[in-house]
Amino acid sequence: MHPNRKPLIAANWKMNDPPVGCYTSDSPFRSLPGVDVWVFLPFIEWYGAHNAGLVYGAQCGRPEPQGAFTGDISMLMLKHQHFHAVLCGHSDRRHFHQESDAFIAEQATAALEVGLIPIVCIGETEAEHDAGKTTDVLKRQLKPVIDVLTAHHSLPTTHFILAYEPVWAISRGDPNKPAATAKDAQDIHARIRSLLPKDRQATTRILYGGSMKGSNAAELLAQPDIDGGLVGGASLKLEDFRKIVEAAESR
Ligand code: 13P
Repeated sequence: MHPNRKPLIAANWKMNDPPVGCYTSDSPFRSLPGVDVWVFLPFIEWYGAHNAGLVYGAQCGRPEPQGAFTGDISMLMLKHQHFHAVLCGHSDRRHFHQESDAFIAEQATAALEVGLIPIVCIGETEAEHDAGKTTDVLKRQLKPVIDVLTAHHSLPTTHFILAYEPVWAISRGDPNKPAATAKDAQDIHARIRSLLPKDRQATTRILYGGSMKGSNAAELLAQPDIDGGLVGGASLKLEDFRKIVEAAESR
């Protein structure tokens, strides 16, 4: 495994209160020597995370530095408040805010230009999956992102991350929702890697997101092309999240 692909477990709290205990000294939301742990929080939580010394990111960000965009926060503003990274194109944003592939690429560009690490999220819906369109969808979603990478060809590979989120496996509060099987997830991750520019294939981290939890993390994280997790529901349960981080540590 390339050293640039240190495991990363990213908690996405979505629009939920942070779990009790997340800011304590033994919080599982702290990085370990062998695992990066980052928290993607509702904006108003940034100060708590900052004071607790966590590494935190935003769930979205607007490309323009400032202006008449009611309710939005720009990548530049995030950078000023010490955010480390930003999710671009999470499936919730694609669905509820109609974010397009082109706009997501604009967000990734703006993030890179202010020094935030974009985690670009891609993945097919259930209907697309059932219709056998997964590869076509991933290619379509990746195309403008690859153009961004080509334009920033000297960018270190650690400064850009992808997350594969099969939308049909995202829990949306259902703790019994099955994740993709480890084999299927591995196959898709390998396919995504093969679609990246040649000089980034071996070094780009690709996270899996979709019902990763304590009980399945070890098997998913053992796959050679899965470099970590983007964790929703299980990131709201302290001990379940700790198991995921431990699985990444002993990978
Ligand atoms: P779950 O882990 O709840 O399936 O959510 C995945 C996700 O959307 C993370 O961003």
